[in-house]
Parts: sequence; C-alpha cells; structure tokens
Amino acid sequence: MQATDLMDTTTSENEEEGREQLPERVPTHVAIIMDGNGRWAKQRGLPRLAGHRAGTENLREILRACVEFGIRILTIYAFSTENWGRPEAEVKGLMNILKDVIDRELAELHAEGVQLRHIGDLSRIDPELQRKVLDAIELTKNNNRLILNVAFNYGGRAEIVHAIREIVRNGHKPEEIDEALVSHYMYTGDLPDPDLIVRTSGELRLSNFLIWQGAYAEYYFAPVYWPDFNKEELRKAIIHYSQRERRFGLVK
Ligand code: IPE
Ligand code: IPE
Ligand code: MG
Repeated sequence: MQATDLMDTTTSENEEEGREQLPERVPTHVAIIMDGNGRWAKQRGLPRLAGHRAGTENLREILRACVEFGIRILTIYAFSTENWGRPEAEVKGLMNILKDVIDRELAELHAEGVQLRHIGDLSRIDPELQRKVLDAIELTKNNNRLILNVAFNYGGRAEIVHAIREIVRNGHKPEEIDEALVSHYMYTGDLPDPDLIVRTSGELRLSNFLIWQGAYAEYYFAPVYWPDFNKEELRKAIIHYSQRERRFGLVK
C-alpha cells in the first residue's frame, strides 16, 4: 500500500462498520504499556516466555485497528530499563522475541505503510539486533500511515538524563532552556505528546513510561492481560477517552 493511502477516503464495508461505532474525538497519539504477559501464561500453566510470545500475536490486529480508528501514532512499551533485572533467560527470550517479530512482520508492516521508530537506548543491545532495528527504521522511514514507536530498553528517567546530557553537550545556555527545548531532546523529539496512555493487566502505575510526555495525557487501565487486548478493548479505551474533558489546567 502507498503512503498516500493515508489520505484515501474510500473505505471497505468493514471499516465503515468499525467507524460507525466510534466517537468523533479519537486520540492522535496512543501509548500502551503492554503488561500482564507473565500472568497470562501462569494462568494457563505455561512458562512466562510463552506469554511474551502470545503478546506479539495481537500486534497486527492492534496496528490495523489503529489505522482504521484514525490513530496516527502508537507507542508501545516493550522492554524497560528495569526489565534487565529479570532472570537472564527471560531477558534473553525477550531479545529473541524482538528479533523474531522484526523478521516475521517487517515486510508486512512496511507494505501497510507503518513507519517504525525506536525510543530508548539501543547501545546496550546485542549489535546484531541493533543492526536489525536500525535497518527496519531505515526501510520504513518514509511511510506515513501509522508511526509505530517501540520503547525498548526505555526508561522515562533515563530519557530525561539523556536529554540533559545532550543539552549540555550541545552548549545550550541556561536562558535557552525551556519546555519546548527539553521536549525536543526527548526520544520522541518531533512527535506530539501522547493523548491517551493505556495500561493493560489492571496495574495502576506508570512504571517509568513517558513521564515527561505524559504530563497531560488521559489514562485508561484495561482489566485484561496484554495477550487478550484486542480491537474491541482498544475501542473501549477510545470511547472512554472521548468522554473525558481535557482541561489542561484551564476553566471551561
Ligand atoms: C509485560 O508483561 C511485558 C514486559 C514487561 C516485557 P510482564 O512480563 O510484566 O507480565 P506480568 O506483569 O509479570 O504478568
Ligand atoms: C512495564 O511493566 C514495562 C513493560 C510493559 C515493558 P513491568 O511489568 O516491568 O512493570 P512493573 O514491574 O509491574 O512496575
Ligand atoms: Mg508486568
């Protein structure tokens, strides 16, 4: 599919049907904390890694639903800076899963006009996997149907430290430093802040995700584990979002 399809107004019957049930106000940028893979597996008597694998199977459906619903940017939290502290076999397994997902899905993501990006620190990742990620980013850089930002070895505090270091390294004067400049130095750089942050599995915390960018996001906590999060669950999140009144500190 061509990037110009973004502007295409013709839709299939299925898409029409999907839109009908959608509110008018849809978030531009949705970010998801994909949590609960381990518990999903445990519930089924499976090893945790089986849960992580299952948590890649629903990605296609979610990406398609984003395009259909009119979401332009999706950021997914796949591996945190704190997740290095998990057992070695699990960390290794998660690295392999990222590699396999790229191998398995890249061609189709590209064909569907998805622009892949990464946020976080790639330098601690195995060089071969780094190469794979960078090649995928390069291949898809001109796509504009959906921006998929993958937070991998990402931590909100590490991101802020990284931004401060870059600001100092580039010799900015104190007077030049304002919120716009700091935002520019975040990994999300030129992207708008997330409008909606979803966390699956029922946990009510951010776990170091987008702590700068999420200052005025709306939050939605889905009760299901990530592998069970599907198009209908995403629709529910968007409906909740559409019913919120975003005030940004002002009075109506
Ligand atoms: C989220 O699932 C995926 C990662 C953190 C990599 P978890 O592995 O945190 O699953 P739970 O929270 O233990 O169920
Ligand atoms: C957050 O989930 C990280 C990802 C989803 C990648 P965690 O499962 O690591 O967070 P905590 O430990 O419950 O706070
Ligand atoms: Mg978890």
